[in-house]
Amino acid sequence: MELKGKSQAMTERFLDENYELAHLEVTPGEPGGSQSVDLPVLHGTMGPSVLDIRKLYAETGYFTYDPGYTSTASCASNITFIDGEKGILLHRGYPIEELAEKSTFLEVAYLLMEGNLPRKKDFESFVESITLHTMVNEQLHNFFQGFRRDAHPMAIMVGVVGALSAFYHDSLDIHDPKQRLIASHRLIAKMPTLAAMAYKYSMGQPFIYPRNDLGYAENFIHMLFATPAAPYKVNPVIGNALDKILILHADHEQNPSTSTVRLAGSSGANPFACVAAGIACLWGPIHGGANEAVINMLKEIGHKDRILEYIKRARDKNDPFRLMGFGHRVYKHYDPRAAVLRKTCQAVLDELGNHDDPLLKLAKELEKIALEDPYFIEKKLYPNVDFYSGIILKAIGIPTSMFTVLFAVARTVGWIAQWMEMLEDPSQKIGRPRQLYTGSTLRHFSPLSQRKD
Ligand code: SDX
Repeated sequence: MELKGKSQAMTERFLDENYELAHLEVTPGEPGGSQSVDLPVLHGTMGPSVLDIRKLYAETGYFTYDPGYTSTASCASNITFIDGEKGILLHRGYPIEELAEKSTFLEVAYLLMEGNLPRKKDFESFVESITLHTMVNEQLHNFFQGFRRDAHPMAIMVGVVGALSAFYHDSLDIHDPKQRLIASHRLIAKMPTLAAMAYKYSMGQPFIYPRNDLGYAENFIHMLFATPAAPYKVNPVIGNALDKILILHADHEQNPSTSTVRLAGSSGANPFACVAAGIACLWGPIHGGANEAVINMLKEIGHKDRILEYIKRARDKNDPFRLMGFGHRVYKHYDPRAAVLRKTCQAVLDELGNHDDPLLKLAKELEKIALEDPYFIEKKLYPNVDFYSGIILKAIGIPTSMFTVLFAVARTVGWIAQWMEMLEDPSQKIGRPRQLYTGSTLRHFSPLSQRKD
């Protein structure tokens, strides 16, 4: 596999050849006084151009202010492109709809990491490498004994994935491309094994070892649901549905958990620690935890007659309730992943003989009402990837508490691809944002006895 360092150097050259100058005049009253500066405007291959403000502070004494990074590009990337207005998602230029329909999760993993769809022999050696790394060090089994049986599996995943750095000392040197590659394959391969172990531990059932004769999604399902007591055959409908769900969750440009992995990686932290940080961030209920929150919300709504009550609450500024699975920082149109999942939902439920799943019916009714509601239309709030994923996962037997774990298994590929790109980016520096200080001005310590009550 050729190293992608070339692609980063190409990015640098591309940006050097694709820029103009913008003239910025800053004329406040106080305190910095009027400043003017010429800033490069960098053009990518698609999407908005950027103002290169790397020299802004040095030349004007001003920071920019953008909590939540609503208008800030943290990096240049060749991996994923999203057009939020049109609901477009491309991975290395390939539309998510085509990849979900025609590719497999491991082929998409190769594409995200290496930049192109694999040739047959490269793909075979990639799959073989992943397959041979699926087992975990037997001592890791002891880690689970320290958790309560009712621990949330994401709490377990944060712990055990970070602990991998205590076992694989031969792949911690991030400056060695070979070690980066081995660590990457180990993480992609071991995430389903650890995820299944977290589930088995919560069930009080024995861990099931990975099998080299099964595909990636099939192996995951086998480790989740097989027991030593009887032979277990994975239903191909479920195996295919899970593989497609993994594809749809693989990467999504600079989302919160990917940005966490990049920031952790920028300090030189090892990949196992970076992915553990990404898992922690993904767990948030308004990020990757939303798929679990959607199911809990649908169960709380319970009946279509109560939908309007919850839509009203979602519109009420004084009510913290938000419609889980709706809205997105980037998509101001239907999330293309949600569209694929909506279609897959019905197909999987029909194939499993569950033609009128009450949660799916309620979800479709809720979607219909929300999309016709003036508030949701004005705010451009559409179903996102989490709105339908939980319904399929529930239908194929994945317990609700495991939904975000599954998201983490899939997104590990995106985190790894983005982490590798960050390390190979010549313009990359340690991430260290500045701030607008609004605290106390200088004051001096006074002893307790002299402080007035
Ligand atoms: C993921 O970034 C990614 O790419 C993430 C992800 C990925 O693949 O990595 O796509 C995965 O995290 C999908 C999002 C899953 N989260 C949810 O479904 C939780 C519900 N959604 C919201 O919490 C919200 O929409 C966010 C967090 C997803 C986006 O929040 P933003 O971009 O900060 O938008 P915002 O909060 O500024 O909302 C804009 C307006 C606000 O109203 P005003 O302050 O302008 O009056 O829309 C309102 C919000 O109150 N709003 C909602 C809403 N989402 C936004 N109102 C009701 N219900 C909602 N779901």
